[in-house]
Amino acid sequence: MKKSLLKIVSFMLCFSLLFCASIPVNALEDNDISRISCTVYGDTSSQRGFTWYTPQKSDTKIVIYDANGTDVTASLKIDYSSKEWKGNYVHKAVVGGLKAGITYTYKVGDGVNWSEKGTFTTDDGDDNLNFIVIADVQASNANNFESGANVVKKAFETMPDAEFLTSLGDYTNDCTNEEWDLYADSFDSISLGTTSVPVTGNHDSDSHWFENMFALDTSESVQTLNGVNYSFDYGNVHFAVVNTNDMLSVTNAQLTWLRNDMNSTSADWKVVFMHKSPYTLGKDGKWPDALYLQETLAKVCDETNVDLVMSGHDHMYLRTKPLNDNKVVSQNEGSTYVLSGTAGTKRYQIREFSLGRFMQKDFIDACVVQREGYANYYDGTDFDSTDEANVGGCFNTVSISGGELVLNSYIVSDETGTVKNIDTFKISKAAGENKATFKGDNTTTLGKYISSLLPSFMGLARYAFTVWLPEFIFAVPDIIRSAKNGTF
Ligand SMILES: [Fe+2]
Ligand SMILES: [Fe+2]
Repeated sequence: MKKSLLKIVSFMLCFSLLFCASIPVNALEDNDISRISCTVYGDTSSQRGFTWYTPQKSDTKIVIYDANGTDVTASLKIDYSSKEWKGNYVHKAVVGGLKAGITYTYKVGDGVNWSEKGTFTTDDGDDNLNFIVIADVQASNANNFESGANVVKKAFETMPDAEFLTSLGDYTNDCTNEEWDLYADSFDSISLGTTSVPVTGNHDSDSHWFENMFALDTSESVQTLNGVNYSFDYGNVHFAVVNTNDMLSVTNAQLTWLRNDMNSTSADWKVVFMHKSPYTLGKDGKWPDALYLQETLAKVCDETNVDLVMSGHDHMYLRTKPLNDNKVVSQNEGSTYVLSGTAGTKRYQIREFSLGRFMQKDFIDACVVQREGYANYYDGTDFDSTDEANVGGCFNTVSISGGELVLNSYIVSDETGTVKNIDTFKISKAAGENKATFKGDNTTTLGKYISSLLPSFMGLARYAFTVWLPEFIFAVPDIIRSAKNGTF
């Protein structure tokens, strides 16, 4: 009798364990409000987008206080939305009617449970702007997210008055609930203190995760199947954010949008943020997809006088000299491309077989590999120099003041936590020279985008067979040699 009772109890225990194991684990607690972000949304002096998650369906509310701590929510125009997303609830609020140059405080929640308070500052419209750029945290575990967050904290210590934080994509490695929760654990406190400018990475773009993590204005943009393209003005700078991770790195519809977008501004400075890099010595610099950007997106940057293109994807730091028509030119006659280094812990080595084939050596003005072993920096002639302090996560600061842009890049040493400046770069130019030449609607519907896909694929195929493949065939022996040394 006792034995059979034991059997029943064991069976029930096993059954409950099995049942529990089959329920998807949701790390959010009942009252958790997490994955909070405040993002640029259209007019940066009067609007912001907000996103947050809750584990259960709940009301969607935001409260905003002005610099004196007065609740100004009733005076603002707020559009709310919410929906179930991958087992949680995603809430969004688009807030308009804010005043320029004010530091606001906010909290989000359901009217009963509230998040911690966050702050953001609207653009004051002057021609001074400071911002921070990181790329590729791309973590899977708590330690690596924490390490990436530490790099960003050091960035804000280095530039405390940064007006926004750009992340150039690959927030997580596998885009799962578990990873986004770990991301939130490490990054929510940072996101609560600034405005974010998110960029879609290839690790973020599957299954619409990116669109559901951030509220972004795509109203005058090109719609893509996954990921987001958008643009905005901040101070005297026009920024375009290009999604390089949909069906191919860039499509004809996106190129048309970018050309019109950059021609529609009279701002003094033009900056592009995107994930994949046209100019790189990393592991992805041998495939036609990213290299196609040299033939297409770089040409649009040439035509429209883009000053700076910042990207990620290959986890190393590399800055080109000013380029126009894939040739080195003098400053102000071309665009400078910065592969912004990884803020994370997964770091790539140089693929030397790309040199002279997919990446010309004389294009490189600075290059830092963030790992020990193969090489740590490019000293203008070779890649053999090493410096242990260059092993760590990377961040970039950009200061624009009138006609001067200064980019500084830093590495936070894994070993000591010290911050080392690895690159400084300046552009000076006369302000007030850009004129808008495009006016009108620059929206591309999803239908139009889809119909542009076939010619876009044909353009990529033409490039791949006529330009990339002949180079690649000759590179194969070197690639094999490199693969034997562990760097494919
Ligand atoms: Fe990537
Ligand atoms: Fe990445």
